Amino acid sequence: MSLSARKLEPVTSVAKPMVSIENVTMAFGSFVAVQNVDLEVGNGEFLSIVGPTGCGKSTILNAIAGLLKPAEGDVSIDGAPVKGVQNSIGYLFQQDALLPWKTAYQNVELGLLFRGVDAQERHSKVMAWLEKVGLKGFEGRFPHQLSGGQRKRVQMAQALITEPKVILMDEPFSALDIHTRHLMQNELLRLWQEDRRAVVMITHDLEEAIALGDRVVVLAAGPKSRVIESFPVDLERPRNVAEIKLDSRFMTLYRDIWASLRGEVEKSYASH
Ligand SMILES: Nc1ncnc2c1ncn2[C@@H]1O[C@H](COP(=O)(O)OP(=O)(O)O)[C@@H](O)[C@H]1O
Ligand SMILES: [Mg+2]
Repeated sequence: MSLSARKLEPVTSVAKPMVSIENVTMAFGSFVAVQNVDLEVGNGEFLSIVGPTGCGKSTILNAIAGLLKPAEGDVSIDGAPVKGVQNSIGYLFQQDALLPWKTAYQNVELGLLFRGVDAQERHSKVMAWLEKVGLKGFEGRFPHQLSGGQRKRVQMAQALITEPKVILMDEPFSALDIHTRHLMQNELLRLWQEDRRAVVMITHDLEEAIALGDRVVVLAAGPKSRVIESFPVDLERPRNVAEIKLDSRFMTLYRDIWASLRGEVEKSYASH
C-alpha cells in the first residue's frame, strides 16, 4: 500500500470545512441539551468529541446526520445546508446495526441498493469491500454466525462502501472487549487512511479519542452543553493504537485533556 506523506499528516487547520456547525442549539421541548455550539471539521480530518455521559454527544451527531433539527443555528456539509436525512454520510454505531436476516454480503450491499447502483457494480464493490475488511469467504454468513469483531468489520464495510463525504461514529467500539477493540481501531485507521474522509467520532473513552483523532474537542456537562476546549493531536500516522498509548506525547496530551474533561465528568456524576 503506498500512502503519500501528505496524507499522513494530521489535519489541524481547517481551510475549507467539510462539516460546519454554527451557533447550534439543540433542545427537546424546554430541555436545552446543547447551546451555541460552533465546530468545524476539515476534509480528511478525524475529529474526536469527548464529554460526560448525557452531555449531548449523540444529539450533535444526529444534527449532522439530519436526523434532528437544531432549535437554532446552522449545520452544513461540504457547503450545503443540512435539511433532512443526509445520504452523503456513513454511520458507525456502537450496537449492531446489521439486519439479522440478511447475510454479510447483503448487509454490505444495502447502501448501494438504496442508491440504485446496478447489480454488476454492486457485486464487484461488495466483494472488494468484504476482502478489504478481511471477510473474504464469509459473505454467506448471517450476523449471528459472526464474532463481535467480524460483525464490526461488516459494519465498517457497510459504512464506507458508499464513499460518504462524512463518517459519523457514535461510541463505535465500546461494546467490544479490549483486544478486539484495539484490533478494530487499528483496522478502522488502516481503512480510513487509504482514502481520508472527514470523521466525527464521539466517545467517552479519552484514550480512544486521542489514539484515533487529529483533534479532540471537549464538551461541557449538560444541560446546555458547549465546547470547552479543542486539542490538536500532533502524533504521526500511521499509528498503532495499543503502542501509541506508551508514547510520552500521548501521556502529556492525555493529562492536559483530562484536566479539562475531569471537572465536567464530576459535575455530571453530581447531577445523577
Ligand atoms: N429524544 C429525546 N427526548 C428528550 N431528551 C432527550 C432526547 N434525546 C436525548 N435527550 C437528552 O439530551 C441529553 C443529551 O443526550 P445524548 O446526546 O444522547 O447524550 P450523550 O450521547 O452525550 O450521552 C440527555 O440529557 C438526554 O437525556
Ligand atoms: Mg450517546
